[in-house]
Amino acid sequence: MASPLPFIVTVLAIVTPSLAAVTVNTSAIIQTLSIDFYKRKCPSVEKIVSDVIKKNALTNKGSIPGIIRLHFHDCFITGCDGSILLTPERYNLYNTEMAHPANGISLRGMEVINQIKTEVEKHCPNVVSCADILAYAARDAIVSVGNPHYVIPAGRRDGVAIDGNFAGGLPKSISNIERLTEQYAEKGLTVEDLVVLEGSHSIGQSRCQGTIAEVNSTLEVPAVDNFLDKSYKAMVENQSCAPKDSGVFWRLTTPLNPEKKVNEAWGVSFYENISKGKGVLPSDLAMAVHGTTKDMVKQYASNAELWKKKFNEAMIKLGKMNVLTGEQGEIRRHCGIINSVNIPVKQ
Ligand code: HEM
Ligand SMILES: *[C@@H]1O[C@H](CO)[C@@H](O)[C@H](O)[C@H]1NC(C)=O
Ligand SMILES: *[C@@H]1O[C@H](CO)[C@@H](O)[C@H](O)[C@H]1NC(C)=O
Ligand SMILES: *[C@@H]1O[C@H](CO)[C@@H](O)[C@H](O)[C@H]1NC(C)=O
Ligand SMILES: *[C@@H]1O[C@H](CO)[C@@H](O)[C@H](O)[C@H]1NC(C)=O
Repeated sequence: MASPLPFIVTVLAIVTPSLAAVTVNTSAIIQTLSIDFYKRKCPSVEKIVSDVIKKNALTNKGSIPGIIRLHFHDCFITGCDGSILLTPERYNLYNTEMAHPANGISLRGMEVINQIKTEVEKHCPNVVSCADILAYAARDAIVSVGNPHYVIPAGRRDGVAIDGNFAGGLPKSISNIERLTEQYAEKGLTVEDLVVLEGSHSIGQSRCQGTIAEVNSTLEVPAVDNFLDKSYKAMVENQSCAPKDSGVFWRLTTPLNPEKKVNEAWGVSFYENISKGKGVLPSDLAMAVHGTTKDMVKQYASNAELWKKKFNEAMIKLGKMNVLTGEQGEIRRHCGIINSVNIPVKQ
């Protein structure tokens, strides 16, 4: 872990009777990445990434939300170290984050990261990490759907450890705001980051599992069931959940935005809709109900510029989570495989 000093501060994020003091582990946000990291070593890297993302934004739209989520899942579990990209097929073992049920077949966009890596290696072999490629790709994916361009620092190294079990620590759509706030705080993220980043759910797809169509949300998210717009729920159920024995039940068939199935609805209409009980994930609806988050939801619903600015800032922070730097880790030759593992690559 790239933690200079385990520096733990206790802050009162937002003080309410229901949300006690949370411990924020600021050492999880590493400040040693730099904006001009590849300036001499690989000056074309950002152009290469952005060209590939622009092409995929037109022809492979599903990869755009896929890549944003990949970067989040990479960073949230063992830091932004490219560990999410390690492929179970290539190891012939299943103890990878990618294979964990929390990710499983729901991940997408990996082929785009591999395309980028192949292109980058032609220009500057062995200098750009997969973790950095994923961070740049997620930034460009976010820009492709409508956020202003923002600069991210680089210098992340790729992890060499494999342990899929950690993926059990990913946030769950049936968790309540207390639980999610706690999980974010452990990583150095605030309740505001939680609300701001959730706007990503204005695009993309879900498995039926864990959505309002499937989950009895009253179990974990009190008040959400009453708040839920019943006709919206009927629409989600009707459109999105194949019968459990149909073979596609476990696939990513539920649009997070059932009214517009592609990437056009990116942004604050998500907050407006969840304020009206129209949301696909119980955890999203919970933000519009809970005392510590509902005012933020209202604020973003009516202020797209503010949300975009905050979103970009939160992504920059997310991208610094527990990164490996300097001599730590390695620069992977192939994003799906740790260098020391000697398995032929299927291209
Ligand atoms: C409270 C935290 C979060 C929860 C509980 C959550 C949950 C989920 C779930 C259940 C899905 C559907 C995928 C599946 O069925 O496995 C999903 C999709 C997605 N999430 Fe999240 N998420 C959270 C935070 C985030 C954050 C912070 C980001 C980005 C910065 C993000 C970006 C996305 C995107 C883009 C998709 C669509 C993926 C695709 O279409 O391929 N999520 N999320
Ligand atoms: C804080 O972060 C450090 C470095 O990543 C880690 O070793 C430590 O366990 C974390 N502490 C808490 C309370 O999460
Ligand atoms: C969902 O929870 C409610 C409240 O506890 C309960 O009345 C209802 O029977 C549950 N429904 C299912 C399908 O489990
Ligand atoms: C459910 O889907 C069918 C076929 O797509 C459609 O005809 C029907 O109106 C839908 N019902 C609801 C409640 O949305
Ligand atoms: C919010 O609802 C409006 C109106 O029904 C719809 O056009 C828009 O696509 C929705 N946005 C999201 C992110 O679901």
